Amino acid sequence: MNARQLILERRSVRSYTDQPVPSEMIEEILEAAIYAPNHKLREPWRFVLAIGEGQVRYVEQLMELLEARGQFDQKTDEQRLSFKEKISEVPVFLTVLYHVQGTDDQQTEDLLATAAMIQNIQLLASELGLGSCWKSGKHWFTDEYATLVGAHDEERVAGVIQLGWPAVIPPLKKRTPAREKLTHF
Ligand SMILES: Cc1cc2nc3c(=O)[nH]c(=O)nc-3n(C[C@H](O)[C@H](O)[C@H](O)COP(=O)(O)O)c2cc1C
Repeated sequence: MNARQLILERRSVRSYTDQPVPSEMIEEILEAAIYAPNHKLREPWRFVLAIGEGQVRYVEQLMELLEARGQFDQKTDEQRLSFKEKISEVPVFLTVLYHVQGTDDQQTEDLLATAAMIQNIQLLASELGLGSCWKSGKHWFTDEYATLVGAHDEERVAGVIQLGWPAVIPPLKKRTPAREKLTHF
């Protein structure tokens, strides 16, 4: 598949089969993804992979974190259980951290480089038939979550990438043509 097809065929996949994903497959993806452009080769990223037994521990601890944050305060036990079942179905959680160092400009560069690397992960996963979805916001950016994944003081979460074999591949979400956002100088 060429780069254009790969980019156009990637989807954010949010539901997965129960077929396990080999850890080596994720490692293989990461070994290529890290060839993303990054200024002065600072290679600002680090990864925390929750897969297999690690995924089970991760889901337990994530549930505890969400509980402590009051996410289930207005929910019934049944709703809480159904949420847990839903996240338990995600075979792989890959947390991508980036090192926060240097000037504001350097920090921006490092976050951008990490984002480019995450797109590589998603494209490489897609090429192998794996579904992935980049998750961010809410609890992922909290200190409690940083502690959960063992982030160092100078690391921040860039995103959490869920991966697995797709149960449902969503249709293409159309974009505004680039030419409508293009100005010739
Ligand atoms: C920084 C970032 C954060 C995202 N966060 C979420 C998220 O929290 N939950 C989610 O379901 N999708 C999330 N997405 C995926 C987008 O919703 C998705 O890319 C968009 O709907 C377009 O769909 P597509 O990726 O299938 O083309 C995120 C994407 C990016 C780049």
